[in-house]
Amino acid sequence: MSPAANTPSNVTQEQLIAGLQEDIAREYKAIIQYIIFSQKLDSAKYMNIADELEEHAHEELNHAIAIANQLDYFGQYPVHEPKPVVVSENNEEMLWADLRAEDETIRNYRERIQQAEALGEYALAEVLQEIVRQEQDHQIDLATALAVVPHESQRKGLGPKIGS
Ligand SMILES: [Fe+2]
Ligand SMILES: [Fe+2]
Repeated sequence: MSPAANTPSNVTQEQLIAGLQEDIAREYKAIIQYIIFSQKLDSAKYMNIADELEEHAHEELNHAIAIANQLDYFGQYPVHEPKPVVVSENNEEMLWADLRAEDETIRNYRERIQQAEALGEYALAEVLQEIVRQEQDHQIDLATALAVVPHESQRKGLGPKIGS
């Protein structure tokens, strides 16, 4: 999946907006998962990451507001449905669900940055760059807790398959 394949030079503003609506729905999902999992991690070895997940929840809320603000700039009303939330009672499954969600979020924001730049929307691209930097920090926190490498391409086939 090369990034260029997802970024036709003839990308339209409608495609960019549709992508931002998907992005905000992913942020809603992330907020919900981090709220629940930060309180439900109960294994002693994951106590430190529980505090970090609570921080993630706050940062995802900030991202959702930032994306809503950008949608407003384009005269769009943000969607109100989250992407399907993944639930588990198993500590490792929770962390893997969050890690996979961050992987997907990062892939999508990278595509969105390229679309924004292709359309000359540089202020939006900068907002998205700052968000994706924080998403990478989330990815690192989760990968570190699970003792796997952060970069998605380096851990193919690892981890339980749960949720979407
Ligand atoms: Fe986020
Ligand atoms: Fe995140």
